Amino acid sequence: MKVMIIGSGGREHALAWKIAENPKVSRIYCAPGNGGTALEHKCENIDITDIKALISFAKAESIDLTIVGPEEPLTNGIVDEFKKENLNIFGPDKRAAMLEGSKIFSKNFMKKYGVKTAEYECFKDVKEALNYINFCEYPVVIKADGLAAGKGVVICSTREEAVKAIEDFMISDIFKGAALEIVIEEYLEGVEASILSITDGSTILPFLSAKDHKQIYENDMGPNTGGMGVIAPNPYVDDEVMKSFNEDILLPTLRGIQSEGMDYKGIIFFGIMICRKGVYLLEYNVRMGDPETQAVLSIMESDFLELMLSSLSESLHDTEIRWKQGSCCAIVAASGGYPAFYEKGYPIRIKENIPGKVFAAGVNLNNGILETSGGRVLCVTACGNDLTSAIEKAYEAVEFIDFKNMYYRKDIGKISENCEKAFKEQESYELV
Ligand code: AMP
Ligand code: GLY
Repeated sequence: MKVMIIGSGGREHALAWKIAENPKVSRIYCAPGNGGTALEHKCENIDITDIKALISFAKAESIDLTIVGPEEPLTNGIVDEFKKENLNIFGPDKRAAMLEGSKIFSKNFMKKYGVKTAEYECFKDVKEALNYINFCEYPVVIKADGLAAGKGVVICSTREEAVKAIEDFMISDIFKGAALEIVIEEYLEGVEASILSITDGSTILPFLSAKDHKQIYENDMGPNTGGMGVIAPNPYVDDEVMKSFNEDILLPTLRGIQSEGMDYKGIIFFGIMICRKGVYLLEYNVRMGDPETQAVLSIMESDFLELMLSSLSESLHDTEIRWKQGSCCAIVAASGGYPAFYEKGYPIRIKENIPGKVFAAGVNLNNGILETSGGRVLCVTACGNDLTSAIEKAYEAVEFIDFKNMYYRKDIGKISENCEKAFKEQESYELV
């Protein structure tokens, strides 16, 4: 079987590595891939990103299945285009991808189908938005409607901050059209969790929960990044949280997908907030998370390719996902300066017998030498019998890696003071 994976990040390297486990898979084409996928078992990089050219390649090489990593090709309708040509592809169609591509679409979907989410209002008129923030409670959350590379959400503590965000988004147009319409939303305090899942449109099977560490600095300080590290499972996601998640978020989402007639055979990633007043959905992503994928696939026992094939044949109802015992920890090694300016082109050294798996992200293979080429460079994952041993092993593995200006957080898996505070408040609430 020949598989093509679209994308070039650590997530796509992890997908390629996991799929290569399946004995039926003979070749994996990574479009365009990175320095890590270039060296991965069964993998070959191809320098194609344009949808039409990908279709021609899939036909010429008789690709049996295409898997889409990032959100952009999905919101651009790659799944619809492949299906028109009778090519097998795993991912939601263009309309379902709006669940990530438009915050207004997704919030209205949540409201229509009773998915528990923060209160909100949508605006396309600057004056109305500016007027609304005169009367709302603070902090307040302002969100760009469209895709803004993870930077389209601002938490505003004061009216002045809210005015600035609205002006940046709607007047200065800093996201080039993606923030001309906005959502203004109630601020929720609590503990976040990432729950990835797979669906065939009739069944949604959640994966093991994960906890992302989004901020650049320790103790969840500094600007947000794509994600600096993950642990799985998320220690805050217990049976009670899963029960609320299933009842208040997963099942109403499934009803919505079915009622809207969406063609959804792919991944749904639920970004949730566990609050005093319940479990809330912050957002849908229509793809795997990065670095959630690196951790979650490392601890998945099941054959992921078979799961995707079950989704495509609409047979997830009689499929079970198996997980390895214990926990997994994934640590991102970034270029110093990220998420702002950083230098690239530095050689990467990885010592032999590293006690973890290294997934490449911003990495080029240049004449046989791995070089840094992006902000998030590598992600090292290690599994252990429990969370403590997984974390220890992952940090031991990071010591085997070296490149100029390498930066990583030293507290992946630790609970930040803010998180701890929010969780304690929640416990005391439950005791009352
Ligand atoms: P989103 O893209 O909607 O998930 O937002 C990105 C990040 O902003 C989330 O991971 C949260 O950390 C934060 N966030 C989004 N919405 C809210 C909210 N209503 N209350 C508090 N934080 C939020
Ligand atoms: N790590 C968060 C995301 O992939 O959106």
